[in-house]
Amino acid sequence: MKHLLIVAHTPSPNTKQLADSVFSGSQNSAITGVDIVMKTPFETTIEDVLWANAVLLGTTENLGYMSGALKDFFDRTYNGALGKTDGLPYAIYIRAGMDGTGTQRGIKSITTGLRWREVQPPLILKGDWRTEFLSEVNDLGMSLAAGLEAGVF
Ligand SMILES: Cc1cc2nc3c(=O)[nH]c(=O)nc-3n(C[C@H](O)[C@H](O)[C@H](O)COP(=O)(O)O)c2cc1C
Repeated sequence: MKHLLIVAHTPSPNTKQLADSVFSGSQNSAITGVDIVMKTPFETTIEDVLWANAVLLGTTENLGYMSGALKDFFDRTYNGALGKTDGLPYAIYIRAGMDGTGTQRGIKSITTGLRWREVQPPLILKGDWRTEFLSEVNDLGMSLAAGLEAGVF
């Protein structure tokens, strides 16, 4: 079995729905070879990161940057992951009121330092809430899990 770790920050009902949808996408019944664990950034430990064969990160944009919660996750796990997770496939989704680029940039700079590999285009869900966001994150979860199972990453 391959291991997919989803780290999702859910400070609002909408972001909780996003996390539920990405999780259910990754659990698509056609995908049988992937174990999935979803945690909040505050719950996620370095052991979770070292367990993972791929990581999906979900965050809000706050004050032009990733959420403090996701930053805390990186602060606590960066040194432990450095040199032990080279090439780790990952993808991100960002829920932003209007922008999202500062968050994308911030995550990219950290994951570049870690030498992780972005395997799906970043999904930025910005502007007023739209229900289509749910299918977009669902697809992201499914394609990451399916790609991991198929060994394409
Ligand atoms: C303190 C605070 C700062 C925020 N800063 C930004 C920001 O810099 N850029 C942005 O696009 N959205 C910003 N937002 C909007 C949040 O990203 C958005 O409310 C969050 O993703 C939750 O989405 P929801 O309102 O659909 O539940 C901010 C929200 C809060 C509460």
